[in-house]
Amino acid sequence: MTHFLDIHKTDPADLRHMIDHAGAMKTARQGRPKGAPDDEQPLAGHMVALIFEKPSTRTRVSFDVGVRQMGGQTMVLSGSDMQLGHGENIADTARVLSRYVDLIMIRTFDEDVLLELAEYASVPVINGLTDRTHPCQIMADILTFEEHRGPIKGKKVVWTGDGNNVCASFLHAAGQFGFDLTFTGPSQLDPEEVFMNEARAKGSKIIIERDAFKAVEGADLVVADTWVSMHDAQSAKERRHNMLRPYQVNEELMSHAKPDALFMHCLPAHREEEATSAVMDGPNSVIFDEAENRLHAQKAVMRWCLGV
Ligand code: CP
Ligand code: NVA
Repeated sequence: MTHFLDIHKTDPADLRHMIDHAGAMKTARQGRPKGAPDDEQPLAGHMVALIFEKPSTRTRVSFDVGVRQMGGQTMVLSGSDMQLGHGENIADTARVLSRYVDLIMIRTFDEDVLLELAEYASVPVINGLTDRTHPCQIMADILTFEEHRGPIKGKKVVWTGDGNNVCASFLHAAGQFGFDLTFTGPSQLDPEEVFMNEARAKGSKIIIERDAFKAVEGADLVVADTWVSMHDAQSAKERRHNMLRPYQVNEELMSHAKPDALFMHCLPAHREEEATSAVMDGPNSVIFDEAENRLHAQKAVMRWCLGV
């Protein structure tokens, strides 16, 4: 079964194929209305379940539109409305859904839910974000970087703030695509050591630099994300904000990176917190290209999973 669970669990050649395929599919659609079908209809006759146990705008809409462009059908399911949210175990849910649908995308809290679903499903499962990782986002981000600046191999990415789920997938990508990553944030919010070491073992330079200004020196890409993720307790908000304020991405910080350094944010953003509007709407920001590229990257991921 070809699941897309995480970037470090996916063969680098397959990752490269998906990025290139996504770019080609994007080019082929240029100028068409969003709802127009692709020339190829590889998902014709396929049913895709999109399960959300957390809120979503981009993941929900981009998967739904992507499936439809490729000729398939979707059903969007909220975890709390399913028996899953009322005690039916994951293994049984996986086996039942596999009798109805050809592909499952799930956004959930605990990674174990994703892994158990994948273990018991007889159809491919895609990770649409867990507390621990967000691989589809980073596939879109790699596509976006390469559209603007060419191959990401050998480049320097700087992650600012919280070493969270999106940061984890960036670290996985560093190892698989061969770029370096500097993390700048408070020690309490460092990324998981195991993810940093895995990327190092694959030859990437992974550095922790507490001084944000030093961290961004020579950066080709500066990345920010929310300071309080969906899985974080709201009660921790003030403490986290106090710790993270020195890591805000503003024009002064960006002026210490390379002059052509791109700025990325997976969105949703809290403007004037983790990044200022001047940066988010500035000339080096590619945040809305990232959002668009979720669509193209995930179409390639779905085709790879289904082998179509
Ligand atoms: N970036 C991202 O995954 O956004 P949503 O939470 O809106 O899906
Ligand atoms: N780190 C954020 C990403 C949202 C797309 C969260 O998990 O809430």
